[in-house]
Amino acid sequence: MGLYSALARPLLFRFPPEAAHRIGDYALRASPVWSALRPLLSTRDGRLATTVAGLKFPNPVGVAAGLDKDCRFLPGLLDIGFGFAAGGTVTRDARLGNARPRVLREPRRRALLNALGFPGDGLDAAERRLRGLSDDRRSRIMVSVSGTEIDDIAECHRRLQPLVAAVEVNVSSPNTAGLRTFHEPGNLSRLVEALVAQRDRPLFVKLPPWRSDEERDEIMPMAQASIDAGAAGLVIANTHPVEDARLAVGRGGLSGAPLFGDTARMVAEARNELGGDTALIACGGVGSADQVWRLLEAGASAVQLYTAFIYEGPGLPGRINRDLLKMMEAASVNGLPVHMA
Ligand SMILES: Cc1cc2nc3c(=O)[nH]c(=O)nc-3n(C[C@H](O)[C@H](O)[C@H](O)COP(=O)(O)O)c2cc1C
Repeated sequence: MGLYSALARPLLFRFPPEAAHRIGDYALRASPVWSALRPLLSTRDGRLATTVAGLKFPNPVGVAAGLDKDCRFLPGLLDIGFGFAAGGTVTRDARLGNARPRVLREPRRRALLNALGFPGDGLDAAERRLRGLSDDRRSRIMVSVSGTEIDDIAECHRRLQPLVAAVEVNVSSPNTAGLRTFHEPGNLSRLVEALVAQRDRPLFVKLPPWRSDEERDEIMPMAQASIDAGAAGLVIANTHPVEDARLAVGRGGLSGAPLFGDTARMVAEARNELGGDTALIACGGVGSADQVWRLLEAGASAVQLYTAFIYEGPGLPGRINRDLLKMMEAASVNGLPVHMA
């Protein structure tokens, strides 16, 4: 058992989830500490490298949007060994988000439920913080943007794009009233076209999950509309919408281990339906090298994770990457089974 599972997690889990998150946020902001620990935590090996929509990342294990909503500790996340990290979701104006309780832990199944609804400091603050990053960091940072109006999202995209390697547009949070308008492929096309018109970095669209044939028939046209409008890639997928009376708003998004099977299926289906040119980033329930390997084999070029990090702590990305190297050695191959799109 590592230091995190033995000591830090039991301590952090005594606090309500959002308070524990603030403590983790402070810890990860102590960037000299994490830079100093970099050689211990992160794993550098050319065989782990991947390319996603032309972006080169040193390893395929990324941070999913929402962990650092206000772009406060992205360098710390890179230093502990993630190959890349998505900041945000950033909205144009600062927002309080939904009523509490709005985050629940489900430790037995290594899951979280959240109904945050985009609380955050807004665009000005995110822009200010991202300006402080070095070019080396920027080449591994994406930022997620969202909103309910095309103009607001386009403003976030226009102002943040020069400061990062790529932008992800989130049209799939289940917790924000108004986002569903972009589930209609015509509206999504108009949004993606507006962003592509001002794009000079790859643009990713983060899709909602699909769990049935009916849902697939609803989401696949969103994927196709995004690509036709010029998106370079897709993030598959966001949290799974669920109802839960313990959340003040009565519903939220499920994340963590229970999602993995669906993530693997969705990536395989998307790769199958969309052909080879679209970059896919798999997201949902990832917590081990085995799982990363399976998702890369299914057609992803990289993965993002959030919930497993809450349960496993800062040793997780290094552990996954070391295990990936062991898997390569066991299979006598010199690189990841990665789809280069
Ligand atoms: C507390 C919490 C907040 C999140 N906030 C965002 C967000 O702001 N934007 C977004 O695109 N996804 C957000 N997500 C979804 C994650 O990025 C990810 O898609 C989802 O949690 C599945 O991955 P996981 O199982 O590795 O956590 C959030 C997830 C959690 C648990």
